[in-house]
Amino acid sequence: MNYVSKTAGVTWKSPSNIALVKYWGKKGHQLPANPSISFTLDQALTETSIQAEFKEQQSGIDISFSFENAKNEAFELKLKSYLQKGVQQFPWLNHYHLDIHSSNTFPHSSGIASSASAYSALALCLCSLHEEISGEKLVDFYQLASFWARMGSGSACRSVYGGYNLWGKTPALSNSSDEYAVNVDHLIHPDFQAFNDTILIIEKGQKAVSSTRGHALLEQHPFAEIRYRTGFDNTERLLKILEAGEIKDFIQVVESEALMLHALMMSSPTPFILMKPNTLAVLEKVWDYRRQTGSNLLFTLDAGANVHLLNPVVENAHVQEFVKNELLGYCQNELYFCNAIGNGPVKQEK
Ligand code: PMV
Repeated sequence: MNYVSKTAGVTWKSPSNIALVKYWGKKGHQLPANPSISFTLDQALTETSIQAEFKEQQSGIDISFSFENAKNEAFELKLKSYLQKGVQQFPWLNHYHLDIHSSNTFPHSSGIASSASAYSALALCLCSLHEEISGEKLVDFYQLASFWARMGSGSACRSVYGGYNLWGKTPALSNSSDEYAVNVDHLIHPDFQAFNDTILIIEKGQKAVSSTRGHALLEQHPFAEIRYRTGFDNTERLLKILEAGEIKDFIQVVESEALMLHALMMSSPTPFILMKPNTLAVLEKVWDYRRQTGSNLLFTLDAGANVHLLNPVVENAHVQEFVKNELLGYCQNELYFCNAIGNGPVKQEK
């Protein structure tokens, strides 16, 4: 391979996403046991810059990594083994030193999952560097970025595009794939195109059980096969619902996906509970509020204690009132983050 640039540099800002149908359980190497659907957020972002310098002598992966201006050796090691997987695709990785700087727009310890934004930003940087160093244009730039984001963290592959994205092969969509996510915005009813996600920080800090371990625990789970089948069915159902604009059915599928995710954790042979008493209290409050007001506010959950409140943008003023008046007391330090559906990653100009 010919290297046309001895130095190259790139910066991408990439968002997190929230899953509506959950990916929980893997098969093979970083492939999903069932398809999942998410929308991309507009405020929870990771910004990653990589400066690449050609090395005359050395070969092998050679990087330095800092997170929010502090050297982070634990993540540097993780990154090295991640990049090692990319050498065949990006052979220049063995011949350049990479200086990587990363930061988040949300506090690291807030319990907001950062692996989706982090690995999507990183994969986009790799694809851009590849173009700069090789002088070749990548035809399927975002598809390749999604593929490499997935190799770092499954959910990250859904973050390389804005709007609604689907990851995992499903008979409902001919261009779907287990290897990368595809954008499904063209299928989405206008009523679902303007949505908010208010993330209530119920508990900051590291989760007791990582999602890597959570995925692995599904392998021994007595309900695994039923879960995977339900994930397939809910993906097909949700696609139809998103196309038709049926909000009541949307609420039913999305909330049941969130509760099923946590029910799987609790019913695992090695059980664990990531919800906290305040998580449950908020879920009940949301149900009460919906019963009393006829609102279309709903919740979903990540693999953690925080609650994602979803609502159509037209209802946002009322929802924000409800959050301030009735839910802040359940949040740690009254912390919450407002997001809308985002337009996806943005390459920063030099
Ligand atoms: O991408 P991972 O391996 O951190 O797994 C993410 C799992 C969930 O956030 C719980 C669900 C999902 O589809 O994002």
